[in-house]
Amino acid sequence: MSNVKKRLGMSLALSGFLLLTPTLHAGDGAQKAAVCAACHNADGNSTNPEWPKLAGQGARYLREQLRAFKGGTRKNATMAPMAANLSDEDIKAVAEYFAAQKRTIGAAKPELVGAGERLYRGGNNATGVPACMACHGPRGSGNPAAGYPALGGQHAVYVARQLDAYRTGERATDGNAIMRTIAAHLSAAEIEAVSSYIEGLH
Ligand code: HEC
Ligand code: HEC
Repeated sequence: MSNVKKRLGMSLALSGFLLLTPTLHAGDGAQKAAVCAACHNADGNSTNPEWPKLAGQGARYLREQLRAFKGGTRKNATMAPMAANLSDEDIKAVAEYFAAQKRTIGAAKPELVGAGERLYRGGNNATGVPACMACHGPRGSGNPAAGYPALGGQHAVYVARQLDAYRTGERATDGNAIMRTIAAHLSAAEIEAVSSYIEGLH
């Protein structure tokens, strides 16, 4: 009899725990993200221009990149070790956490706005480069469901560095080589202008 009571008590306690799990998750994300704050800041708006802002980034894209760092497809000596020990659950929790933060916007260099905006909104017919806005959105908010990253407000230094990495093939996380193909057709001046424009885009 007492055994049955014990078991009943156990299963009640267990179901109580399971019911609580979803509520625990949000706090879990904040807690797990604490270690990321050293570089990306607690709210995901990093101040060092070489460390990307994560705030407001699509959760699907964040998960994909964390898995790429963990699996070695995306290489970076500073970031890869940070992803190495994240479980799939950790990845989901931190991605949700940073996706829910509000991104801060920077400013473009005034002398680069014209050229940057032309490329971002219209592409370059002569070199066959499509408009960035077709996938990253007119205000740079990306397409979270499709996993197209938000760019608006991102540090120009980081953006230029990624375009360079796609151009040389060092970064090959893009499924159909979309970004590698695009970046291979960008000039250094175009990369500088569009990266600066993106930092002020919102
Ligand atoms: C010691 C500094 C440092 C810490 C701590 C750190 N990161 Fe990073 N993170 C970086 C750097 C540098 C990059 C850029 C890597 C590159 O250029 O490819 C980066 C890139 C990323 C990216 C890719 C963003 C994008 O737009 O593609 C994600 C996602 C990310 N970090 C998540 C995290 C999470 C989650 C944590 C905590 C578990 C974390 N980082 C901790 C330095 C850090
Ligand atoms: C056909 C759709 C498409 C177009 C057009 C496009 N992109 Fe992308 N872009 C993507 C996708 C998808 C990714 C994510 C790829 C990955 O996982 O590495 C991406 C990633 C990026 C990244 C990396 C973001 C980060 O946080 O690390 C940058 C920077 C970028 N694109 C800039 C541009 C610029 C600048 C243009 C215009 C010259 C452009 N893109 C045009 C689809 C596109």
